[in-house]
Amino acid sequence: EFTWKLADHPKLPKGKIIAVVVLDGWGEASPDKFNCIHVAETPTMDSLKNTAPDRWRLVRAHGTAVGLPTDDDMGNSEVGHNALGAGRIYAQGAKLVDLALASGKLYEDEGFNYIKESFANNTLHLIGLMSDGGVHSRLDQLQLLLKGASERGAKRIRVHVLTDGRDVLDGTSVKFAETLEKDLTELRGKGIDAQVASGGGRMYVTMDRYENDWEVVKRGWDAQVLGEAPHKFKNVVEAIKKLREAPNANDQYLPPFAIVDENENPVGPIMDGDAVVTFNFRADRMTMLAQALEYEKFDKFDRVRFPKIRYAGMLQYDGELKLPSHYLVSPPLIERTSGEYLVHNGVRTFACSETVKFGHVTFFWNGNRSGYFNSELEEYVEIPSDSGITFNVQPKMKALEIGEKARDAILSRKFDQVRVNIPNGDMVGHTGDIEATIVACKAADEAVKMILDAIEEVGGIYVVTADHGNAEDMVKRNKKGEPLLDKDGKVQIQTSHTLQPVPVAIGGPGLSRGVKFRKDVPNGGLANVAATVMNLHGFVAPDDYETSLIEVVD
Ligand code: 3PG
Ligand code: CO
Repeated sequence: EFTWKLADHPKLPKGKIIAVVVLDGWGEASPDKFNCIHVAETPTMDSLKNTAPDRWRLVRAHGTAVGLPTDDDMGNSEVGHNALGAGRIYAQGAKLVDLALASGKLYEDEGFNYIKESFANNTLHLIGLMSDGGVHSRLDQLQLLLKGASERGAKRIRVHVLTDGRDVLDGTSVKFAETLEKDLTELRGKGIDAQVASGGGRMYVTMDRYENDWEVVKRGWDAQVLGEAPHKFKNVVEAIKKLREAPNANDQYLPPFAIVDENENPVGPIMDGDAVVTFNFRADRMTMLAQALEYEKFDKFDRVRFPKIRYAGMLQYDGELKLPSHYLVSPPLIERTSGEYLVHNGVRTFACSETVKFGHVTFFWNGNRSGYFNSELEEYVEIPSDSGITFNVQPKMKALEIGEKARDAILSRKFDQVRVNIPNGDMVGHTGDIEATIVACKAADEAVKMILDAIEEVGGIYVVTADHGNAEDMVKRNKKGEPLLDKDGKVQIQTSHTLQPVPVAIGGPGLSRGVKFRKDVPNGGLANVAATVMNLHGFVAPDDYETSLIEVVD
């Protein structure tokens, strides 16, 4: 019968202080000038790799190893932290939506039937990221949904697009908009009034996360719901092309725009009676908008008008808050995470990052669950991120502050596990600014050093790993691995994550002498880390967890 109680590890002691360090966007790749981790001075991470070959290895952080549809899918923080925290591989949002669309089950379930009631007399609005990155959303899923909804009675459809350039190459939004526009034209040919109604760049419009900056969501609200935006165009392709002409413009940060008719009236504000679907499957950057669309009581910004709509998320984004209450596809049910087990076994836990990654080591780590399992044993600390800037301007971000908080938590001896996410490699890597990303990697390495020094002082153990690659490769490559050039002969900067594996390093004075990485888990992935950490806390992991990476030789 089920019990939260974990068996004692036969060989490893309890009571060691363990630092679990997740470097965000820190993969392993061959050394060249586009590998910012290689170029940066990173003595601490280098020494982990070079001094203890039995205690450093690579694990898979992308594709099927983390529950994504195929091994062509790059890793991301959501699936990476889910796997790290849950110790098992779950079919993730991207895949669940694929399956629900392919089988047609999506159209039979509660969420679709709920929004469908608006189809006869009102408009269906689809809001989300226009991308084939597969991190937050996918264009082919939107295309299928457009087709499916129109075949099932939607007569008037408005799409509110957010341009990407972060999970895909900058500039690709034009191509995606053309593809979408072609589909909408076809629908119009069939007598369905289907159009793009508004848009904007994902980092400036709508897709903020962890309440870093509500202004971002407000800008989107104004364009999507109120039909008000500083820029007005007749169609989306023209809008994106024009807005990209401004100096330093890029897809991630395009300003909000509204599509207007010949009388300059917005073609698709959201009105009473309409149906709205946010078609991103990933939660972190949709929950703020979901709150604005769903909550009667709401004080984060002035909504001006709060239309009475039927709203569904592609998924339910927060299982704890039940947000949104209607959704088209059920999210992965991630239960019995390592965090929950450890708390039930008396392990006191401290978790910390800065705002932009705070939910990664809490919400994602705990299986998309917000809040504490047991507030008496856990403390989660959020360091406010700088907002309103792109992180190439401040590439050190709050790495040192995170390092200090972790150091203090370790030295206080009040916690058994001190877990952090150090965001620099990822957040600065996403800007595509190579110089800044080098500075970012150095800062992350310095934060790791602070934490390892504290572990040294208390006789503890460290586990240093990453959630997926990013900073180790900043350029788009051909199949041979050579950098690709654009039509002006410049290398094509890659702002997105990668398919690369990530390191796992263990060590520290508290680590029993005989502990080393097993040789019989060559294809290990991020999901193997949870059992490993449980072992280091002195416990045997539950049977259904992916196997531990370590063995203890006498
Ligand atoms: C983002 O949301 O910033 C990117 O799409 C993915 O980055 P993350 O998975 O590292 O958060
Ligand atoms: Co990222």
